[in-house]
Amino acid sequence: MNDQSQTFRTSLLEENDGPGHNPTDNATMGELIAARFSRRGFLKGSLAVSAIAATVSPMALMLADDARAESKSAFTFEEVEVGIDETHHVAAGYDADVLLRWGDGIFADSPEFDPLNQTPESQAKQFGYNNDYVGYIPIDGSSEHGLLVVNHEYTNEHLMFPGIVKVVEGKLEVLPADQKRVDIEMAAHGGSVVEIKKEGGKWQVVMDGKLNRRITANTEMQLSGPVAGHDRVKTNADSSGKKVFGMVNNCSGGVTPWGTYVSGEENIHGYFIGELPADSKEAANYKRMGIPEGVYDWGNFHDRFDLSKDPNEANRFGWVVEIDVNDPNSIPKKRTAMGRFKHEGADSIVAKDGRVVFYLGDDERFDYVYKFVTTGKFNPDDRAANLDLLDDGTLYVAKFDVDGSVNWLPVVFGEGPLTEANGFQSQADVLIETRRAGDLLGATKMDRPEDIGPNGVNGKVYVMLTNNTKRTGEQVDGANPRAKNAFGHIIEIAEEDGNFAATKGKWEILLKCGDPSVADVGASFSTDTTKNGWFGMPDNCSVDADGRLWVSTDGNSPKETGRTDGLWAVDTEGGARATSKLFFRVPVGAEMCGPLMLPDMATFMVAVQHPGDGGEDWKPFGRPSYYEDLSTRWPDFKDNMPVRPSVLAITKKGGGKIGV
Ligand code: FEO
Ligand code: CA
Ligand code: CA
Repeated sequence: MNDQSQTFRTSLLEENDGPGHNPTDNATMGELIAARFSRRGFLKGSLAVSAIAATVSPMALMLADDARAESKSAFTFEEVEVGIDETHHVAAGYDADVLLRWGDGIFADSPEFDPLNQTPESQAKQFGYNNDYVGYIPIDGSSEHGLLVVNHEYTNEHLMFPGIVKVVEGKLEVLPADQKRVDIEMAAHGGSVVEIKKEGGKWQVVMDGKLNRRITANTEMQLSGPVAGHDRVKTNADSSGKKVFGMVNNCSGGVTPWGTYVSGEENIHGYFIGELPADSKEAANYKRMGIPEGVYDWGNFHDRFDLSKDPNEANRFGWVVEIDVNDPNSIPKKRTAMGRFKHEGADSIVAKDGRVVFYLGDDERFDYVYKFVTTGKFNPDDRAANLDLLDDGTLYVAKFDVDGSVNWLPVVFGEGPLTEANGFQSQADVLIETRRAGDLLGATKMDRPEDIGPNGVNGKVYVMLTNNTKRTGEQVDGANPRAKNAFGHIIEIAEEDGNFAATKGKWEILLKCGDPSVADVGASFSTDTTKNGWFGMPDNCSVDADGRLWVSTDGNSPKETGRTDGLWAVDTEGGARATSKLFFRVPVGAEMCGPLMLPDMATFMVAVQHPGDGGEDWKPFGRPSYYEDLSTRWPDFKDNMPVRPSVLAITKKGGGKIGV
C-alpha cells in the first residue's frame, strides 16, 4: 500500500508510516550503533581500489584486481531511465503486455466491465481492484500454462466510482458510501485464481478455466489451527468460532511447495468502526493493532465490522489465509498457527530436514520479523498429506543483535514470559496477541518489515524494510541503523549451517537505500550503480531460479525522489554486490507490486497497483487525481475508461531468459 498517498486513504496509511503501535522499549536500549558494512564493500569501488594501491602490497593489489574482475553484474539489460509520466516503461528489448485489468472477466459468463454501472454481482465475477501479490502455480510443471493467483489488497473509491468526490481547497472529499458501493468494494477485495496460458509467445487468460475463482470479503472461510473455536473468535453470527466470511487487505503472500496459495491480511484496522463495549477484554489487543481506524464505511451496513455490535470479529482478521486452488469450491483456511498481525508476505522454502519454513513480515513501524516452521515434513509425493501442515508448527520472532547474530525466539505459550502471569491462558491467546508476545520476548523493533525472500540457490534470506522516519537517534540499533530512515534498507540473513529451520543465524545489511550522492542519506549502493539504479522504500521481492534478487518499491514520488516506483535488479554476489539497475517503472501515482519471475525465467509478472492515485507532485498535472479528473488513464487511455490496476507479463522480444 502506498506510504505517501495524498488521498483520503492517508489515515489508513499513517498507521504504517505513523508512530506505530509498539509501546515497548525492545531492542532500542543498547543505543550501540553498529553500522555494519557489507563484508565485501571495501573492495567494491574504484576509490577503494586506488586507496589499496597506494598503501599495500602487490598481493593485495592482485586481490583487488580479482575483485574488479568479479564485479560483473548477474544482470544484463539496458536499464530504464528514472522519471515520471502517465505510462509504464520496461527495459529495451522487452515487452510488457497487460494481462489482467481491474474489471476484466475471468469466467466464461463474466459481464463486460462497465464502470458507470458497477454492481457487486458483476465485480464478484471480474478481476478485483489493486492487485498486489502475484503467484504462479504451474499446471503439469509448465512455465507456460498455470494458475495465476493475485491478491486484491484494497479499493481506491475516488478512482473507482464516478460522482463521489468534491475538491475542497485542493483536497479530495469523498462522499460516504451507500450500501451498494460498500458491497462493490467488498467484492473488489480478496483474491483471484486465473488459469493462464502462453500461446505464440503471448500470455492469455483461459476464460473457461475450471479452477478460475474470485475470493472476496464475503467468501466463506474457516479458522483453523490453535485459535479455531476459541471464545475470543466467537461472534453473533458464529457461535462455533470457526466460520468466517472474507479476507481483507491481502497484501503480499506466497505459494506453498504443495501448490496452494497463501495470502497475508495486512491493514485490517481500517475496516472496523465503533467502540468496544466497556467490559470488553480486547481493548489493549485492539489498540496494539490500531483497531478501529474506520477508513471504510462497511460497518454502517454490516454489523460485524462495528465493534460495538460484534466485538470479536476483528480477532478473525489479520491472519495468513491458505487457499487450495485445485478445488474452486474449497473453503479457504485462516491458518492461525502463523500468528495474527499486519501480515505481509508468506514466502516459503523446504528446510534440509523436510520441514517447511515461512518468512513473515509485520508491516508497521517498530514491528517484527517472524518465521513459521512446520512440525510435519513436506511430502513431495503426496499433495493431500501436506494440506494441513500449516496448522501445526512453531512461530518465531526475530531478535537481531549488534554482534551480527539473529536469534529466532519461539512464540509459544508457557515459554519465557508467555504465561498466565502476563495474561495468556493458552497458545490461542498468544497467537491472537502475537505482537504483545513479541514485545514481551524482546524482539527487535524494525523499520517496517515487508516481503522476506528465502534464496534456495545461495541459502540466504532477504528482508525488505520499507522505511521509518519516526525512528529517533536514541532508537537506532544494529539492524535498523538510521534515524529518520526515509528510504529503508535490506537485511541479508544466513541461517546457521544453511538450515532455514535453524533458531539462529547471522545477519548483515545488504543495502541502505536512498540517493547515494547525498551524503546525509547514508545509502550504500555500489559505485557501479547509476542514478537510475538506486531506489528507496523496498517492499516486495522475487528471488528467481538463478538466485537473483529483484526488488519492487512502494512510496517513491517525484517530490521525494524524482522517480516513480519500479522494479530493480539487485546483485547480491561477488564484486557487483549491492549494484542495482532499473528494469521497469510504473505510471504516475502507482506502486510496484507482485514481482514474480516464473520458473523458466522467460516471463516476469508485475502488478501495477493504484495507478493514478495522486498527481499533485507531478508538475504536468499538479492537482489531486480522481475519477472525473485523472492524472492518467492507464492502461487503456480511453476517455470513457478509468485508470485500472493491472497485472503485466514481461517477456523478452523473441523469447528467452530475462535479464540474461
Ligand atoms: Fe500493503 Fe505492507 O504493504
Ligand atoms: Ca506494497
Ligand atoms: Ca507490501
